[in-house]
Amino acid sequence: MRLANKVAIITGAANGIGLAAVKRFTEEGAKVVIADFDETGGLAAQEAFRAQGAEVTFIQVNVADKESAVNLVKQTINTYSKIDILVNNAGITRDAMLTKLSEEDFNAVMDVNVKGVFNCTQAVVPVMIGIGGGRIINTSSVTGVFGNVGQTNYAASKAAVIGMTKTWAKELGRKGITVNAVAPGFAKTAMVEKMPVEVIGRMLQIVALGRLGEAKDIANAYLFLASDEASYITGHTLHVDGGMM
Ligand code: CAA
Ligand code: NAI
Repeated sequence: MRLANKVAIITGAANGIGLAAVKRFTEEGAKVVIADFDETGGLAAQEAFRAQGAEVTFIQVNVADKESAVNLVKQTINTYSKIDILVNNAGITRDAMLTKLSEEDFNAVMDVNVKGVFNCTQAVVPVMIGIGGGRIINTSSVTGVFGNVGQTNYAASKAAVIGMTKTWAKELGRKGITVNAVAPGFAKTAMVEKMPVEVIGRMLQIVALGRLGEAKDIANAYLFLASDEASYITGHTLHVDGGMM
């Protein structure tokens, strides 16, 4: 068991990659907080994992809201007494070409993908310092490094995630906290299913492995960075993109 006795918060865990991460983390012995805006999906996930004997708790959160993030941490402590791992996985897209991108859609993506990561990390870090260490894993994207047509807001947000990751690795290393990012390529979730099929076809041409990723491919990278095997890795961005980069 690679995460025995560990407590993890995974944001955006009611669906897609986050949900796959709940599966992998609980299989490895972690107690997991399913933190998501989506109450229906979160409660369904809680029920399904509990039925299999896993220790999970759904806590509704809007990561973009500071008070909600603080409440997530308080409720987690009330339930499990500590927090060892935070996976800042929640994220959204609002794709549009630059000339058509509204201020509202620019701000919405920044609020969730950048401020959400900041809010949750700022709320969790004092707890991790208190217990002598922890693991923070942030979700970036191939888009944050590579750029992508129609994703001004999203690419900026995912580049910001890498900047925060490197900064926090430097600030928190001496507190025993590692901070890393995972930069997925295109993985089969609701987020990618919304894309025009011809754009997916174009993307597939530049994936060395010639296929889209599975949610579990990304979840396995979260697991590795959360495990003891990654204890001397910090400030890193792990590309899990089938060779796109
Ligand atoms: N590369 C090159 N050119 C492209 C392109 C691409 N990937 N996508 C669109 N274009 C071109 C079109 O061919 C078109 O050219 P012309 O004007 O010469 O005809 C022009 O750009 C405008 O394209 P659209 O007609 O599609 O414009 P639109 O305003 O109707 O839609 C859009 C724009 C919303 C961005 C739409 O193209 C779209 O949804 N694209 C997908 C964006 C994308 O890749 N999103 C990734 C989502 S998954 C994710 O984000 C996860 C992750 O981290 C990787
Ligand atoms: P998804 O859309 O399937 O799941 C995202 C989850 O985040 C949903 O459960 C949603 O309810 C939750 N969420 C959204 N806004 C929230 C908020 N304000 N507060 C709390 N929860 C919120 O997306 P997917 O594909 O699983 O993406 C997970 C992460 O991976 C995101 O950060 C995404 O940007 C990133 N990513 C995804 C890629 C892909 O190809 N699917 C590629 C690269 C990065």
